[in-house]
Amino acid sequence: MDAEKYWHREIEQCQHMCLTRNTSAIKFFDATHGTTETGHKLFMVCTNDYLGLRFHPEVIEAAQKCMHDGGFGSSGARLTTGTHPLANQLEQNLACFKCSEAALIFNTGYMANLGLISAIGRSGDVIFSDEKNHASIIDGCKLSKAKVVIYAHRDMGQLKELLNKYRYAQSRFIITEGVFSMDGTITPLPNLAGLAEAFDAHIIIDDAHSLGVLGKDGHGILEHFRMQPSPRIIQVGTCSKALGSLGGFVCGTKTLIQYLRQCSRPFLCSTMLPPAALAASLKALQILRSEPERVRRLKWFSETAKNVFLESGISFPSESTAIFPLVTGDEALTMKIFESLYQRGIYLAAIRYPSVPFGHARLRLSVCSEYPEDEWRNALLDIASTIKTVVGHF
Ligand SMILES: Cc1ncc(COP(=O)(O)O)c(C=O)c1O
Repeated sequence: MDAEKYWHREIEQCQHMCLTRNTSAIKFFDATHGTTETGHKLFMVCTNDYLGLRFHPEVIEAAQKCMHDGGFGSSGARLTTGTHPLANQLEQNLACFKCSEAALIFNTGYMANLGLISAIGRSGDVIFSDEKNHASIIDGCKLSKAKVVIYAHRDMGQLKELLNKYRYAQSRFIITEGVFSMDGTITPLPNLAGLAEAFDAHIIIDDAHSLGVLGKDGHGILEHFRMQPSPRIIQVGTCSKALGSLGGFVCGTKTLIQYLRQCSRPFLCSTMLPPAALAASLKALQILRSEPERVRRLKWFSETAKNVFLESGISFPSESTAIFPLVTGDEALTMKIFESLYQRGIYLAAIRYPSVPFGHARLRLSVCSEYPEDEWRNALLDIASTIKTVVGHF
């Protein structure tokens, strides 16, 4: 079959299975509201901008000033002409916030995972990866030369058996998300740390959805479990979610970061982020430090969602995070609920294969500290009643 025919067949298959996606535009006018090109106003209840910082006046001002003073693009990769002073400053601040010795910035969180995992996974190593890990972790594993072994989601018993089986491997890396992006579940880090110690393994933890969310002051999963940093724990993160900006990062020992500077191809061979994005991330991080009440407000809004769903009999397998997966398990049903809410002015993301396995379709609600209180509560009630009407029961 020639390529065009194959593409055509795949598109038809997607339509047939209710998996078609489109890129229709929504223009945001504040952190939680947007309008379509036809002027339909939407309350966005699936943002990753958990603290509403991308619209913070100081974040915008920092980016504007940076652009005004030094232009937009960065003109090259970090090791040629792309190391703006703000890059070093942001790395120092991120390392400090994540209680690590050092940090390295990548262009996105996706590239941070690719750049880290592909660089550290050598032939003879074994990577143990949670089955629900994000695509960027899976792709990083594919690019590495290590053997990759998948363990069932958060199954510490199975992980222990696998670590034991591969105890003579050259090096062992356990890779997991802190808060799982599609399920809102939290990885059992204390148990992982115990296993890592017992089997002399490193833990790579992708804290994309924990920064600004977990822990009293939003430092992430280590703070959540009141754990001390350790050279065994490598933290990955992104500035594109709770910091409302753009850019990924890896935090770890000085040796690891220096090694990545020399050997990580996505770091070496791609033009650096625009300095304005660095300025925005830096300012957002400062605001997160100085306004921890945003994190508390986020938790309070999460509690509201829990209470409304409990009272309405809607099941949600979520823990204390900003993500609520409302799993229908059916692609067509999920799209029906999405469309019904969309018509009512609520944008709740429909998540389907390949973001989750086929047959695990869901609506992914997320919390933002800047939701207007009444609108949030009304939207939750609306979501609950729409789900019940469309599904019959849930
Ligand atoms: C767990 C996880 N890691 C990494 C990423 C990628 O981050 P970025 O959007 O900055 O590329 C995402 C984004 O969805 C994510 O959910």
